[in-house]
Amino acid sequence: MLAATRRAAPRAFATAARPSLRAPPRPVQRRLMSSGSKSRYDVGVFTLPSAAVFVATALGLVLYFRHEKQKLADQRERENAAQAYGRPKVGGPFALTATSAYPQSAVPTIDDAPEGTPLTESALLGRWSLLYFGFTNCPDICPAELDKIGEVVRELAPTTPILPLFITVDPQRDTLPAIARYLRDFHPSFVGGRAVDANFLQGADKDPARAAWEGTKSICRAYRVYFSTPPDADPAGDYLVDHSIFVYLVDPEGTFVDAFGQNLAAREMAGQIREAVHVWEGRGRGRGKE
Ligand code: NI
Repeated sequence: MLAATRRAAPRAFATAARPSLRAPPRPVQRRLMSSGSKSRYDVGVFTLPSAAVFVATALGLVLYFRHEKQKLADQRERENAAQAYGRPKVGGPFALTATSAYPQSAVPTIDDAPEGTPLTESALLGRWSLLYFGFTNCPDICPAELDKIGEVVRELAPTTPILPLFITVDPQRDTLPAIARYLRDFHPSFVGGRAVDANFLQGADKDPARAAWEGTKSICRAYRVYFSTPPDADPAGDYLVDHSIFVYLVDPEGTFVDAFGQNLAAREMAGQIREAVHVWEGRGRGRGKE
């Protein structure tokens, strides 16, 4: 009983500070405050009112936290609904031969594996990624976009390591060594890849050029990338590939989050990625178990 009295006092005080909760009767509180004595008589007198305060306070707290929990659940549901509604189906399984895997230190790079390193969509798991589709002979747009990605990766590196992944839409000219040389100008973390369709790498139909071409069509379909090579394109010649220009943000669960257009500056893109990371972590993903 004495224990109940002692606990009741601070809780009653905390309750009174919250206007939405029913305040305990004022006289009881004053008497609790003024009673310095711990005589048996005092304890006897305050048993009933203090028990009432205790119960009311506990009930108030339970209701308050239930209300807050519901509010949080509602907010999460709204966020999820907004994302499910606003997010088109982008991405999916793919197979590439890549200049290296990521992080580069742990795996062969193009210098010791000129045939490339196999890389699938599972490379996107466990880290944030930025995907870009282009070609190394692109005169100015691709270099500008890759510069921008490099800048964003550098800016976010201290808090959010990002895998920058370049996928060619010109597999007939973009060999892996050519892609590797090209990407060195932008950021050391860049991984470059050519898509492959394994169906054309086996048996009598084995045709690596066709495998790359079909693989490229397939991954571009999955990511809704438009590209168009001139029909008379000579692999040894000088031609341009018309292609859509987007940077795709993929979360550590391999799910497409957002596509950034050409007119977005590096600083803005970094800001939007920070926001996406914040939302993702707020849903209980990342940072271990929360
Ligand atoms: Ni381009």
